[in-house]
Amino acid sequence: MTNAAIETRSLRKRYGEKLAVEDLSLTVRRGEVFGFLGPNGAGKTTSLKMLLGLVEPTGGAGTLLGAPLGDRATRAKVGFLPEHFRFPEWTSARELLRFHGRLLELPDTIARERAERLLGTVDLLDAAHRPLRGYSKGMLQRTGLALALLGEPELVFLDEPTSGLDPLGRRLVRDLIRAERDKGTTVFLNSHLLGEVEATCDRVAFVKGGRVVRERALAAEGEGVEFEAVLRASGLDADARAGLERFGRVLHDEGDEVRLSLASESALPEIARWVVERGASLRHLSADHVSLEDEFLEVMGADHRPG
Ligand SMILES: Nc1ncnc2c1ncn2[C@@H]1O[C@H](COP(=O)(O)OP(=O)(O)O)[C@@H](O)[C@H]1O
Ligand SMILES: [Mg+2]
Repeated sequence: MTNAAIETRSLRKRYGEKLAVEDLSLTVRRGEVFGFLGPNGAGKTTSLKMLLGLVEPTGGAGTLLGAPLGDRATRAKVGFLPEHFRFPEWTSARELLRFHGRLLELPDTIARERAERLLGTVDLLDAAHRPLRGYSKGMLQRTGLALALLGEPELVFLDEPTSGLDPLGRRLVRDLIRAERDKGTTVFLNSHLLGEVEATCDRVAFVKGGRVVRERALAAEGEGVEFEAVLRASGLDADARAGLERFGRVLHDEGDEVRLSLASESALPEIARWVVERGASLRHLSADHVSLEDEFLEVMGADHRPG
């Protein structure tokens, strides 16, 4: 028995000739917001459906909240916003939430109270009585979010939750995810929108071609952010170049240019002094924050075509 929210070992999914997921091995801790990142077709949705027990894995194993994948009793503790949802369009958001409340076997008063609270959270109180056929894509997505949270899940899966939303809607989702984290809910977020992920996630995994190719923690705001320094100088000898390692990892060293990975910008003055003291002429020194987008492009490599 594991205390992780999600634990998988070598989950695979094959559709005929197509290997949708090659090897999904990951651990998501309880209470964390986990971002699952990758280009279209990387296997994110298939992975999520295997975790939910909606798609039968071709191989491998895993647990969700300590129970084997597909366990029925566990499903009640899990919320899910699908990537492509279809709601009956003659119902209203309010009716849909109440109907799902009955499916969840919530007492009527609780179902009503929760439905109203969630309609407020996703900013649909004004439209809640209207049939869904008149809703915009963003309103439907917000309806789906409310549905995903109706059962007060311990673990919630959101598959591209902001794809149909405008900036205000995205802000709403961001706030909602943070509120869930504050309550101790584990959030598994599938996304190809890196800004969203950077703003909300504690940890991320990069998935490419059905495989997790990198997994790491994201720094809390203002701490441990990575910088990339660019240094251009003439007259840098081999010793001076090698000595730059003391300030950070050397990413690139060619001709007059050296690029370094730094933990902070505060190393810049020291680097400048060090280079000048070794007799080199410094022409340029700068440091830029490495965004998740930069990292994504690096991880996905040059072979990645826009999806
Ligand atoms: N039901 C299916 N039948 C056949 N191929 C599928 C099916 N579902 C997904 N795939 C294929 O598996 C790959 C991964 O798809 P998916 O998990 O939807 O990726 P993502 O969510 O990262 O965009 C894609 O090449 C997709 O075409
Ligand atoms: Mg998908």
